[in-house]
Amino acid sequence: MGDGELAWDGSRLRVEGTEFLVAVFRGDLTTDERFVIWKTRPLLEASLRLIDRLGAKRIVELGIAQGGSAALFALHARPDQLVAVDLATERIGPLDRLIETRGLGDRVHAVYGVDQSDRHALLAALAPMGPEPLDLVLDDASHRYDETLTSFDLLFPRLRPGGVYAIEDWDWAHHDAAADLAAADPEAAAGWWPGGTALTRLAFELTLATADPSVVRSVQIDRHLVRVTRGPAVLDPHTFRLHDHVSRSGAALLADPT
Ligand SMILES: C[S@@+](CC[C@H](N)C(=O)[O-])C[C@H]1O[C@@H](n2cnc3c(N)ncnc32)[C@H](O)[C@@H]1O
Repeated sequence: MGDGELAWDGSRLRVEGTEFLVAVFRGDLTTDERFVIWKTRPLLEASLRLIDRLGAKRIVELGIAQGGSAALFALHARPDQLVAVDLATERIGPLDRLIETRGLGDRVHAVYGVDQSDRHALLAALAPMGPEPLDLVLDDASHRYDETLTSFDLLFPRLRPGGVYAIEDWDWAHHDAAADLAAADPEAAAGWWPGGTALTRLAFELTLATADPSVVRSVQIDRHLVRVTRGPAVLDPHTFRLHDHVSRSGAALLADPT
């Protein structure tokens, strides 16, 4: 096996002899010759920097889609344990074959038919990872507020102190480009943007929770990611709720004024 190095050529990427295409348009499907990653290149690069900075070896990814990011993280990060889950029930054959041919079956697990808001199913999917804490969670799944919060409540306390919970595409409700796309092609946009409560709200709530840095050490936000770093407090993974760490006065600031 090589060294997991990335060789970029525009929107194409080669790692360990495996080809990837970074594509935001959903017509592109993974084949045995080439994995498709449903991200922009800057978003993918932000996620890869995070993996590298943390030296992440125990990773959970929410949202498999065409299997591209899971395959890339498996080859680049060389995780001790990587669990990737998706609501979809259809397996991505090329991902299964990559895991098998590279002998990654003990370390990389793609689990389908798991709703990120189903605590029981999500916990069952994590079982092969064992009890040690996680380094990194990357949530690229529903981008819906309730579902995203449920996963956060379940997985954040399972991070090690200093571990990071990253939420991708968190800005769909307020970003002008999203609004412009929705105006230009409402039908397509209805499929792209999840709707419901803005994920922006969760970013604000996480920011308020930094009032107790022993729980949320920091929140870093940019165009691509919300990065939540776990503090050192002992957290009960069965009962942890973000909302218990948002003060009443803080929550009042987010109350709908209408
Ligand atoms: C943006 S795609 C993931 C892209 C993938 N991480 C990549 O970079 O190639 C989002 C995925 O989340 C899945 N998804 C949507 N709602 C979900 C939910 N409630 N629970 C789990 N997965 C969900 C969709 O089926 C879809 O495959």
